Amino acid sequence: MVESGALARPLPVRGLMAPHAGEMIRPGGGIQTVGLGRRFVTAGGPVDAIRAVDLAVEPGEFCVIVGPSGCGKTTLLRILAGLDRPTAGYLELTAAEGGAPTNAMVFQGRSVFPWLTVRQNVAYGLKLRGVGRRARGERADRLLQTVGLARFGRVYPHELSEGMRQRVAIARALAVDPDILLMDEPFGALDEQTRLLLQEELLRIWEQTAKTVVFVTHSIDEAITLADRVVVMSAQPGTIKATLRVPFPHPRALTAIRSDPAFAPLFTEIWGLLREEVIASRRSISGGQP
Ligand SMILES: Nc1ncnc2c1ncn2[C@@H]1O[C@H](COP(=O)(O)OP(=O)(O)OP(=O)(O)O)[C@@H](O)[C@H]1O
Ligand SMILES: [Mg+2]
Repeated sequence: MVESGALARPLPVRGLMAPHAGEMIRPGGGIQTVGLGRRFVTAGGPVDAIRAVDLAVEPGEFCVIVGPSGCGKTTLLRILAGLDRPTAGYLELTAAEGGAPTNAMVFQGRSVFPWLTVRQNVAYGLKLRGVGRRARGERADRLLQTVGLARFGRVYPHELSEGMRQRVAIARALAVDPDILLMDEPFGALDEQTRLLLQEELLRIWEQTAKTVVFVTHSIDEAITLADRVVVMSAQPGTIKATLRVPFPHPRALTAIRSDPAFAPLFTEIWGLLREEVIASRRSISGGQP
C-alpha cells in the first residue's frame, strides 16, 4: 500500500497472475484532450510542436503513440505529466475515485538516480510522499520481485545493464501506484532481446494492474504488441492522423501475436500512414529535399 486511505478498491485482475496478497492498487485514470496545442517561441520564430490534438484515453487502456521524429510526442507526454503547459486547448485528467489523478513518467535511459541504490530508487517517490521506511521498503522489494530484480536491491545503477536499469525505472514509476503511466520510448535504447523481455514484463504488469498507459515508440512492431489502440501522429505540427484498434485479446503472448494473421495487415496499415509523415518530416528538416 502506498498512500494511506487512498487505496480503496481491490486490484482488478485481468491477466494471468494474481496480485500480491492483501495488496490494493488503484485502477487507472482517464485522459481527454481537446484542441491541445503547444507553441514554443524560439530565436528562429514560433514552433508549433503539437496542434489541435484531440485524444481520449479510457481508464485502464494501453494507448501507444507513434509518429515521425520531432512531431511532438514528448511534448504531448510532458503536458499530460504536468511538466509543461499547453498554449491552446485544454486537457482533463480524471481519477477513478475522483480528484486529480497521479502520474509517473518513464523516460528513455535517464530515469534512475545513480547515487541511490536500486531499492532506494524504487522507494524514492514513496519517500517524497511521506510513506514510512518499512512500508516503502516492503513495496520496493515486491516491485523488484515483479520486475525480476529481487537480488539487486543493494547495488547501484552503474552496476546494472541498461535493460536492468530500465526495469528499475519501471518499478520506480509503479511504486507510487500512479493512475496514469507515461512512457517515452522506454525501450528505445535496448537490444532486441532485452526489449522483447521487457515488453513481456510490461504486458504482464499492465495485465495485473489495469493502469492507464500512454506509451511512445518508434517501433510499429512494439506498438502492435503492446497497444489496445495505436495513435498515429502527423509530421510537425503534430496532430492525430489516425487511431487504430488492435484486436488481440489479453493476456497476450508475443509469439502468438506475431503469427496471428491480423498482424501483418495492421503493420502495413500503420506503416502506410506513418510513411507519408516520415517523408514529410524529412522534407521539412532538409528544406524541401526528400
Ligand atoms: N523547449 C523547447 N523549446 C523549443 N522548441 C522545442 C522545445 N521542446 C520541443 N521543441 C520542438 O518541438 C518539436 C517537437 O519536439 P518533441 O521532442 O516533442 O518531438 P518528438 O516527437 O518527441 O521527437 P522524437 O521522436 O525525436 O523524440 C520539435 O520541433 C522540437 O524542436
Ligand atoms: Mg521524443
